[in-house]
Amino acid sequence: MAANERQSIHGQWSSRWAFVLAATGSAVGLGNIWKFPYITGENGGGAFVLVYLVCIAVVGIPIMIAEVMIGRRGRQSPINTMRLLAREEGRHPAWQYLGWAGVLAGFLILSYYSVIAGWALAYVFRAGSGMFTGASADEIGGLFEELVSSPERLLAWHTIFMVMTMIVVSRGVRSGLESAVRLLMPSLFVLLVVLVGYAMNTGAFLDGIRFLFEPDFSKLSGESVLIAMGHAFFTLSLGMGAIMIYGSYMPQYASIAKTSFMIAGADTVVALLAGMAIFPIVFANGLEPGAGPGLIFQTLPLAFGHMPAGALFGLLFFVLLTFAAWSSAISLIEPAVTWLVENRGFSRVSACMWSGLATWLLGLGTIFSFNVWSDWTLFGKTFFDLLDFLTANIMLPLGGLFIAIFAGWILSRKASQEELAMARVWYDVWRFLVRYITPVAVVVVFLNAIGVIG
Ligand code: TRP
Repeated sequence: MAANERQSIHGQWSSRWAFVLAATGSAVGLGNIWKFPYITGENGGGAFVLVYLVCIAVVGIPIMIAEVMIGRRGRQSPINTMRLLAREEGRHPAWQYLGWAGVLAGFLILSYYSVIAGWALAYVFRAGSGMFTGASADEIGGLFEELVSSPERLLAWHTIFMVMTMIVVSRGVRSGLESAVRLLMPSLFVLLVVLVGYAMNTGAFLDGIRFLFEPDFSKLSGESVLIAMGHAFFTLSLGMGAIMIYGSYMPQYASIAKTSFMIAGADTVVALLAGMAIFPIVFANGLEPGAGPGLIFQTLPLAFGHMPAGALFGLLFFVLLTFAAWSSAISLIEPAVTWLVENRGFSRVSACMWSGLATWLLGLGTIFSFNVWSDWTLFGKTFFDLLDFLTANIMLPLGGLFIAIFAGWILSRKASQEELAMARVWYDVWRFLVRYITPVAVVVVFLNAIGVIG
């Protein structure tokens, strides 16, 4: 069978738009609203944001195009797709280990992602009950401490979120996801704009904007650059096969490059809006931009506590944040589930149960790292910090590096040209980027972070 006539046994998106919605659902999540602001705060602001934006353009978008292309050409789980395409090109089947590394990365990420999504879920009820109304920054901070210091509560929310995720995955990612994303994504966007509107009236809006967009390169270390690049992968869901498996359900006629630009554009806008909402609140209340993973939970409730109808807006915001996390979580486990179905004869439901259970168990490590194990550190990092660093800053960029090499050097020109169907100039630009610029950029950032160069 010709490569462009293959079909996925797991189904296909109903249209190009369905793919864009699902992939945007995967990309837009906690990474944009929770992680981007806190790592920007920890890494000094403007210069970090600039590096992040450059990484999206030079590394992220070319790799997204490569990943979608590989996925659609193979139309199987990432592991089997890598093996199949390598074989078609007469290359070594060891390329399948790239698929394996991705499955592992997805599993590790989901284990802590679900715990943080649990915080968002907990905040739905906290916001809705009016707990934030009129509260001071200290009180809001205290409420956050109270949540993360309780393993039982974190466990309950983590469990609920994992169950929610696995129910959807067990039904197949297409049913429900499409219509839900279509409605909820624009709502999240509108609510972020409302929050930016609130931030404009805090009196510290310009301080926030300056912090985000005025680069001060003296604040940028080699490690910060690595974190910015790692985040470009994380926020676009790249480097582990999530976008590859979504690509495998994409209709053959849709343009990969155009859809990739739309997804990356929407993702970036959401992150910048989140930053523009949060930093003015930080500065207006004398809070610490480098407060860490609790940042949005210590700032946004202040806004909800002081704006008209804040309880309602707060409730809505955390519902939408939970939803955004949920549509991302689905894509983290999908590569593992499809492999269990294709190669181990699991039904979709039992594949979900087993992979969900394993993820849930590992999540306990993250839960304890915020309370009973908080003193246990390695290189000054807790279990959660280590897991986050290992996955976002090492595994995803390495995965992306090999995806770029595969797309640029292993896959024949004929295959990628046929699959991408772009105008000749644009195709040449893309191919030049994935062959030379993207791999070199990733390697340089790594070497710079470990102090070999620079
Ligand atoms: N991109 C999502 C976010 O920003 C998280 C995510 C979903 C992800 N799937 C992924 C990250 C695959 C890395 C790889 O919240």
